[in-house]
Amino acid sequence: MNVLFLNGPNLNLLGQREPEVYGRSTLADIESKVRTRAKELKVDLDFRQTNLEGELVAWIQQAKGQFDVIVLNAAAYTHTSIALRDAIAASGVPTIEIHLSNVHAREEFRHKSLIAPVCRGQIVGFGPDSYLLALEASVNVTGWA
Ligand code: DQA
Repeated sequence: MNVLFLNGPNLNLLGQREPEVYGRSTLADIESKVRTRAKELKVDLDFRQTNLEGELVAWIQQAKGQFDVIVLNAAAYTHTSIALRDAIAASGVPTIEIHLSNVHAREEFRHKSLIAPVCRGQIVGFGPDSYLLALEASVNVTGWA
């Protein structure tokens, strides 16, 4: 089992960025927790971040045949990017949408996810645990239905 964790714009600033919304963990802290749990589950993973929409599109395209699952925190592109949605649909790799914050409890423009219809499911609002819950879900994502 090989899982690709992708992080979109501004997530490189976690820890300093609006800590009252996103908490004090850095992305490196989150990656380290995910790697510890992945070892226990015998899951291999790649963990990447970019501020560029096109780079996310390229990584999703390249995931086909290389990864079993994508876990995607597309950050602000969640709410704007038809290109990401099309890339997920085209790749056919089961994709789990995640967010640290509960986007539904925030500004109205965050309530709409353009990628949700092409994702297997969403995990939102659990801070860094959203990543760990997505890892648990990844293991059985193709197994339950
Ligand atoms: C986010 C939520 C998005 O609305 C926001 O643009 C982000 C982070 C989250 O993880 O809570 O950058 O994806």
